[in-house]
Amino acid sequence: MKNNKATYLDKNLSRINKALLNSIPEKNYSEITKAIHYSVMNGGKRMRPQLMLLMAEALKVDVDKKTIDLMAAAGELIHCYSLIHDDLPAMDDDDFRRGKLSCHKKFSEATAILAGDAIQPLSLEILTSINDENLSAESKCKIINIFAKACGPKGMVEGQNLDIKAENKKLNEQQLDKVHYLKTGKLIEACVLAVCLLKKEIKKEEITKLIKFSKKFGLAFQIRDDILDVIGDEKNIGKPVGSDQNKNKSTYPSILGLEKSQKKAQKLADTGIKILKSLPYDTKKLEDLCKLIVERQS
Ligand code: IPE
Ligand code: IPE
Ligand code: MG
Ligand code: MG
Ligand code: MG
Repeated sequence: MKNNKATYLDKNLSRINKALLNSIPEKNYSEITKAIHYSVMNGGKRMRPQLMLLMAEALKVDVDKKTIDLMAAAGELIHCYSLIHDDLPAMDDDDFRRGKLSCHKKFSEATAILAGDAIQPLSLEILTSINDENLSAESKCKIINIFAKACGPKGMVEGQNLDIKAENKKLNEQQLDKVHYLKTGKLIEACVLAVCLLKKEIKKEEITKLIKFSKKFGLAFQIRDDILDVIGDEKNIGKPVGSDQNKNKSTYPSILGLEKSQKKAQKLADTGIKILKSLPYDTKKLEDLCKLIVERQS
């Protein structure tokens, strides 16, 4: 099973990387495009596009493979932009990302800000470029709206704002759930909801369940990220261990302890899997992904 799982995730990974490479401007156009290549084509796990591809497969969506690839690339690009800005001195001030110098360390702060600035509208431009007779203009517009909202002032940006503001403070669990939902969960939810719109006959209650699943998945994913910041191996995670503690961030391990945090992540993943199992689709691969995110070492 493990080998089998690795095979389809690996296959999807090369598909995702191709889609990304086709979606970003040529490397040597400018300093900014060099920084974009450096920060996008650099070995991320591609968890969000993996999730989208597996969802599209499970739902048997109506659109072309190319449409799914473009959406997956757009989702990952928003994430890549957020990581570039997250590492900046004014934010988490981290020097390493995905095993290499962070964008602002390799290039400059101005270049990193602009590369992030460029990637965000690029993701929306990619979505507008989708040309698929099985995707109505209305659905396409809705998808763009979903992604724009997820990373906007009431989405990821506010999550990042609350995360920074919470430094040197102790949030309670409920407050932390909100920060993590906004900074990480919203984009993951958008990825899931966007794929739902690629299927014409999907029922409303199925979408409601999938959104619920995405919320469990997103929070579990970020809790494991917090845990890896404490117990992770720098070589595996490709970013500094102890970064949260150095900045006195509110994280799950800091408020609940490691053991309770892992239990919470596990419980969320189990609930996510239960939700998937209640759907009339073959969700086995999605269930495995849900298991994987709370066991991951990177
Ligand atoms: C790290 O995301 C930041 C979070 C929102 C948790 P990932 O763990 O998906 O990072 P990459 O894309 O694999 O580098
Ligand atoms: C990042 O969370 C969330 C976003 C980039 C939106 P973290 O700050 O915990 O991510 P890492 O640990 O630096 O990857
Ligand atoms: Mg951060
Ligand atoms: Mg960070
Ligand atoms: Mg982190």
